[in-house]
Amino acid sequence: THSGASAAAIEKGNYRHFMQKEIFEQPTVVAQTLGSYLRQADNSVALPQFDFDLSSIKRVTIVACGTSYYAAMVAKYWFEQFARVPVDLDVASEFRYREPVLEEGGLALFISQSGETADTLAALRHCKANGQTIGVVVNVPTSSMAREADLLLPTHAGPEIGVASTKAFTCQLAVLAALAAHMAVKRGLMSRKEEQEVVRHLLEAPACLNAALDHDEDIAAMAHLIAPARDVLYLGRGPDYPLAMEGALKLKEISYIHAEGYASGEMKHGPIALIDEHVPVIVLAPSGPLFEKTVSNMEEVRARGGQIVLISDAKGLEAAGEGCMATIEMPQVHPLIAPLVYAIPVQLLAYHTACVKGTDVDQPRNLAKSVTVE
Ligand code: G6P
Repeated sequence: THSGASAAAIEKGNYRHFMQKEIFEQPTVVAQTLGSYLRQADNSVALPQFDFDLSSIKRVTIVACGTSYYAAMVAKYWFEQFARVPVDLDVASEFRYREPVLEEGGLALFISQSGETADTLAALRHCKANGQTIGVVVNVPTSSMAREADLLLPTHAGPEIGVASTKAFTCQLAVLAALAAHMAVKRGLMSRKEEQEVVRHLLEAPACLNAALDHDEDIAAMAHLIAPARDVLYLGRGPDYPLAMEGALKLKEISYIHAEGYASGEMKHGPIALIDEHVPVIVLAPSGPLFEKTVSNMEEVRARGGQIVLISDAKGLEAAGEGCMATIEMPQVHPLIAPLVYAIPVQLLAYHTACVKGTDVDQPRNLAKSVTVE
């Protein structure tokens, strides 16, 4: 389900696949989405129709499935960092049945492209019955979840046709970053000046997404190195750890290559046993305070013959690019927007790898766009 438009009515234009078109739409749709949450006149965050007090929220519970769950994971870092509010997080199919503790004054946040995913909807109803305020980040404004929200936070990605979610994800991140900043302001933890800074960085995202998309051809060439692999490992730290999981999910979904996303520092507690020259290791590591730690994890991989693809900015590549099987250069970005920008290379890598393998990119086997059974 998607905005009532049928796939046939939406054109692929000059693109080979809907997924490819949707990847390239991201600078536009992220700008569109940010446009409805940020006021450029005074660089402030302005949420749509807001009639309750965010400062009184004691706890945020986020529930989602699939790619939307990885957006939730990124948001947890932001809510905690900016708004200093405790965040509980779960996939919907687990959340519903583990008897979660839902105290009064909680905000339950549901993230969904379709607004119809059965497990997420069931979790929403459970939270509603247990006195939570219901926030919904959703791409289909007429969906069930949208109708049941107290606080409706739409993404403006437009209809997403490719089964593997791409543009809905970056738009979810845009909304969640704005929400986290807004909550921080309301809780008195973000000064006017800091809010303006955050808004300025968010507004840089569309241009940075474009700069990331400029590497499409390099990534297409690199896909030939990934396509023969049986297993691929993705590593990331902090808010880029969920991006590693999302990268692995995208690759599994459309190229059918087994992939795992791991926290860089956790690799030595297991996956390192898998590493040899046949396992590409994709490292997502913008330069910054955590970079050095990730570099030492790369050394551990290299010492076992592992082949590294480093995705970083010019600074990071200069420091650690040598000896990698391949590198992808991202623009130098503020840490807040790194998860949006680093989504592009992992989406493109999965996309081009699937093209090399000749799999059905838009309609992968066994998967559905919207899963309406529990
Ligand atoms: C399916 C889709 C995924 C999507 C997930 C959650 O598995 O194939 O791309 O991330 O459902 O869907 P939702 O509409 O709730 O975001």
